[in-house]
Amino acid sequence: MTTAKMVETTIPTLTTERLVLRPLDNADVPGFVEIWSDPEFTRYIGGRCDPDSVWHAMAGNIGCWALTGVGPWAVVERSTGSLVGRAGLWTEPGWPGVEAVWFIRRDRWGRGYAREAATAAIGWVFAQRPDLAEVVSVILPENTASVRVAERLGMTPQRLEFLHGEDHAIYTINRTDWAAVLPAQAVQNAH
Ligand SMILES: CC(C)(COP(=O)(O)OP(=O)(O)OC[C@H]1O[C@@H](n2cnc3c(N)ncnc32)[C@H](O)[C@@H]1OP(=O)(O)O)[C@@H](O)C(=O)NCCC(=O)NCCS
Repeated sequence: MTTAKMVETTIPTLTTERLVLRPLDNADVPGFVEIWSDPEFTRYIGGRCDPDSVWHAMAGNIGCWALTGVGPWAVVERSTGSLVGRAGLWTEPGWPGVEAVWFIRRDRWGRGYAREAATAAIGWVFAQRPDLAEVVSVILPENTASVRVAERLGMTPQRLEFLHGEDHAIYTINRTDWAAVLPAQAVQNAH
């Protein structure tokens, strides 16, 4: 008999002031299909997705956890219980490192949700992985909202890398700098 080797992963649930980051669930499919059907939302992330692509992306997200021990969470708004996005971590072969990722539905933009979710995710992965020197973010330079999220997290642009057929800006923050900006994030998130 052969056995498959996978990272032993329990996907945790993280709670922030206004959000819950919890494992993706099959019941989230319609919510993600709705979010990803907004052309303004998908403008810098490959354009609108059909339901089949959304499901496969979700399967890839769960697979990322199983294969690497990190991955994205479903983001739920605590005050309403609504699914408002997906955020957390991502890595894949050839990627510049462990990436912090953020996707928030359009009617919740501008409330600091991306920053709040990313703060929890980055703090979690630095605590879980003592060997991890830095967290990266991979952003199309013209995606100014995402660039601003990275900047507000204390990340700085390092270089351009050609990934998935396009030049992306690579933002990073190292463990030492994160420890310095974390108290400031906590204060911002409290507002
Ligand atoms: C990028 C995205 C996640 C930002 O979500 P958000 O919850 O609105 O971000 P926040 O409210 O945490 O904003 C963080 C900072 O970015 C700024 N910001 C947000 N949207 C902005 C925009 N369109 N233009 C300029 N700055 C913007 C905010 O003002 C805030 O800065 P401030 O604290 O100085 O005011 C959201 O626009 C999104 O989901 N876009 C589509 C998916 C996507 O492109 N994801 C990123 C892929 S790399």
